[in-house]
Amino acid sequence: MKFKILNMLENADGYLSGEYISKQLNISRNSVWKLINKLRDEGYVITSVTNRGYKFESRFDAYSAEEIKRQLNTDFIAKNIYFTDCVNSTNTWAKENNDCPDGSVFVAVNQSCGKGRRGRNWISDDKGIWFSVLLKPDILPADVSVITLVAGLAVRSVIGDTATIKWPNDIILSSKKVCGILTEMSCEMLTVNYIVCGIGINVNTDAFPEEISDIATSVMIEQGKKVNKAAFLSAVLNSFEKYYKIFLENGFKALSGEYKDNCITIGKTVKINENGREYIAMAVGVSDNGDLIIEENGITKQVFSGEVSVRGILDYI
Ligand code: BTN
Repeated sequence: MKFKILNMLENADGYLSGEYISKQLNISRNSVWKLINKLRDEGYVITSVTNRGYKFESRFDAYSAEEIKRQLNTDFIAKNIYFTDCVNSTNTWAKENNDCPDGSVFVAVNQSCGKGRRGRNWISDDKGIWFSVLLKPDILPADVSVITLVAGLAVRSVIGDTATIKWPNDIILSSKKVCGILTEMSCEMLTVNYIVCGIGINVNTDAFPEEISDIATSVMIEQGKKVNKAAFLSAVLNSFEKYYKIFLENGFKALSGEYKDNCITIGKTVKINENGREYIAMAVGVSDNGDLIIEENGITKQVFSGEVSVRGILDYI
C-alpha cells in the first residue's frame, strides 16, 4: 500500500491531499499519514503543507529491498532480497538462512558485529553498504575462494576505473581500502553445500576512526559526491551476476586478464604471511585459478588466497 501512495505522489503534479489519497485507496487519512511516515523512515523525502497535502521530493536516500529491486536486471541474483535495519552480520544471517534460494541477498543498514577477514571486526554504520549473497554453485570446495576475486571485479567495475584490486579482494581508491569481501562456505569433501559472499563497501563515510584513517576511505571521500546506496547496490548486483556467470561458464581464466589489468599487487614487493612465516617476495602475476604468483629468492611459486595475507612492504597496499 505504501508504494501505491509513493507512486501516486511521484506521478502527481505538485501536492496531493491526504483526503484525496485516502479516497483513491479506500483507506483512512490516518493510515495515509502513517504510511507516509514509513516511507519517510525509508529515506523518501515527502514534504507536507497544511491545507495542501503531501508532495514527493526525492528518493535519493531511500534504501529498501523495493528500491534496490527497481534497478536490477538480473536473472537470479537478488530475486530474493532480505532487508533489515540492523543485524549482527549479514554473513551470519545468510548462513542461518542457507535454505533460501541460490542468489538470495541479505542486506542490512547497520551491522552490530560486522566481520572482517582473519577474525577482524568490520565497522558497519548506516553510511555503508553491507550485504551477503547466498550462492549454491556446482563447483569444488577448492575453487570457492575465487568467488571473492569475482566479487572484487564486480565492485571495482561499479566504482570505476580509478579503483584497483589489492590481491585477493580489497578494492582500493587512492591507496586506501574502500571495500572488503569475506567469503565463507559450508562443504563436504568434494561438494559445496552453500557459499556466503559478504561484501562491505564504504560509500558515504566522511571520516574514519584514527586507527584506520590512513588505510580506509570511502567512495564519497574520493569522488566528492554522496552515493545513492540503492542504485549503487543494484549496479553491484547486476555486475556481480555478469562476472559470476562468466566464471561458472568458463572458469576464472576467462576473467584473469581483466583481473590482472586491475590488480595493483602485481609488480610490487610484498610481505607474505604464510601460516605465521613472514617473508618478502615479488608479486609477479595471478594464475588462471586466482592464485598470486610470487618470486622468492629467484624461485617462482603460487600462493593461495585462503592461506596467506599480503601487505606492501612500506604501506598497506
Ligand atoms: C575484510 O576484512 O576485508 C572483509 C570485510 C567484509 C565485510 C562484509 S560487510 C557484509 C558482510 N557481513 C560481514 O559481517 N562481513 C561482510
